[in-house]
Amino acid sequence: MDTRPIGVFDSGAGGLTVLHECLVTLPHEDFVYLGDGARLPYGPRPLEEIRRFAAEIARFLEGQGVKLVVAACNSATAAALPDLQRALSVPVVGVIQPEALAAVRATRNRRVGLLATEATVASGRYEALIWTLDAGVTVMPVACPKLVPLIEGDDPFGAATVDAVREAAAPLKAAGVDTVVLGCTHYPLIRPILQRVFGRDVTLVFSADETAREVSETLARKAIENDPRREGTYRFLTTGDPVAFREMGSRFLQLPIADVEHVEVARLESVVAA
Ligand code: DGL
Repeated sequence: MDTRPIGVFDSGAGGLTVLHECLVTLPHEDFVYLGDGARLPYGPRPLEEIRRFAAEIARFLEGQGVKLVVAACNSATAAALPDLQRALSVPVVGVIQPEALAAVRATRNRRVGLLATEATVASGRYEALIWTLDAGVTVMPVACPKLVPLIEGDDPFGAATVDAVREAAAPLKAAGVDTVVLGCTHYPLIRPILQRVFGRDVTLVFSADETAREVSETLARKAIENDPRREGTYRFLTTGDPVAFREMGSRFLQLPIADVEHVEVARLESVVAA
């Protein structure tokens, strides 16, 4: 029996899509979620900088006594997953590999679209992973810098979001992809808009449930599960505004959020500097 919590992080609210699946799959585990709202969005930043942020947060969570870290952010996974796995003494689970596998399984015409942040597109991680499974798949990446600020903004389901989705979808629809990877944990939050724009014939792939399954399997493999008869807890930390996080978080998580604790960015930075 291992009573330590599981750490989950993202730049903001996107990782809640992953946390939600983890809470459903592992109701007996405790979770601590950190949203790096002060430095959101990650997408337009250089990979090197995102790698540094991810290292700070993962180290910080390790210092909080977590038994596993979930990088619930495609940009952080793309920039930093191997580094995090090397640097941490606890297992680190990312979100890209499950989506690459699901996309290869889903596509019938072997034309796969990718919607992601600029950083994730620039990393080339999806192509690399998809091509290890099927080098004949054509991957069409589209960077969507407008989407994360819109989703974290005042009107995530408004006309501006629909316009931004239409703009991103246009080249993929023209290219006849039958599968689109939602390569950013924020995007499933606007899934109805995406599915309506792409139509029912296009399969949308995202990794929250697969990631939760991988977390569950990793805990079992390492024999670090908590007592299955208990009900777990979850708590939130943000480098941004706790009130805003709570408001947005409860809308997206659709589960109650009690207190949200503020963490200074300087505290994260000091963990790696120490
Ligand atoms: N949700 C994150 C991702 O999956 C980060 C988005 C951002 O901060 O730009 O890429």
